[in-house]
Amino acid sequence: MNPPVIARVTTASPEETEALGARWGAHLRPGMMICLRGDLGAGKTVLASGILRGAGAPGPFRSPTFTLVWEHRGQFDLYHVDLYRLSSAEAIEDLPWDAMISERASAVIEWADRLPDSMRTPDRLEVFLSRPDDSPLGREVRAEGYGECRRLISEAGE
Ligand SMILES: Nc1ncnc2c1ncn2[C@@H]1O[C@H](COP(=O)(O)OP(=O)(O)O)[C@@H](O)[C@H]1O
Ligand SMILES: [Mg+2]
Repeated sequence: MNPPVIARVTTASPEETEALGARWGAHLRPGMMICLRGDLGAGKTVLASGILRGAGAPGPFRSPTFTLVWEHRGQFDLYHVDLYRLSSAEAIEDLPWDAMISERASAVIEWADRLPDSMRTPDRLEVFLSRPDDSPLGREVRAEGYGECRRLISEAGE
């Protein structure tokens, strides 16, 4: 298997993080899984909103913390998932993954560190967001593209 394509970007504002997501989202295709990791307030929802917009969804975009899943319609079906409130592997496995990642659908997942490794699909972007100590509006974004998702990074020119 090809090694992952890796991007490291520092954004200086929420708008820059959203725009980064939109550049990746423009290359999102059905069957892809976007896994977002990072602490509360790291910028997962901001980045997810950009990805959804880039994939053609009209918005508005809201955090799925309480609903668990928001469904959007872009060029195909887009699912915005938040695993924060799901504490058990069983509860996570019970989500409708076959519908959310399919030949017609793609999913963007917040708190993806809770997803068991066995559920990670091959065409996947793994994103790690963190805050540098010295800058309240800065965020460090590291992304690893696997399989078809290598293209998200290479074609977005990061
Ligand atoms: N560079 C940045 N990128 C993203 N969000 C930022 C940035 N700087 C400040 N913020 C703020 O941090 C918060 C991120 O919130 P959110 O995306 O909901 O985080 P999470 O989903 O990871 O809990 C927002 O209030 C946003 O305005
Ligand atoms: Mg969030």
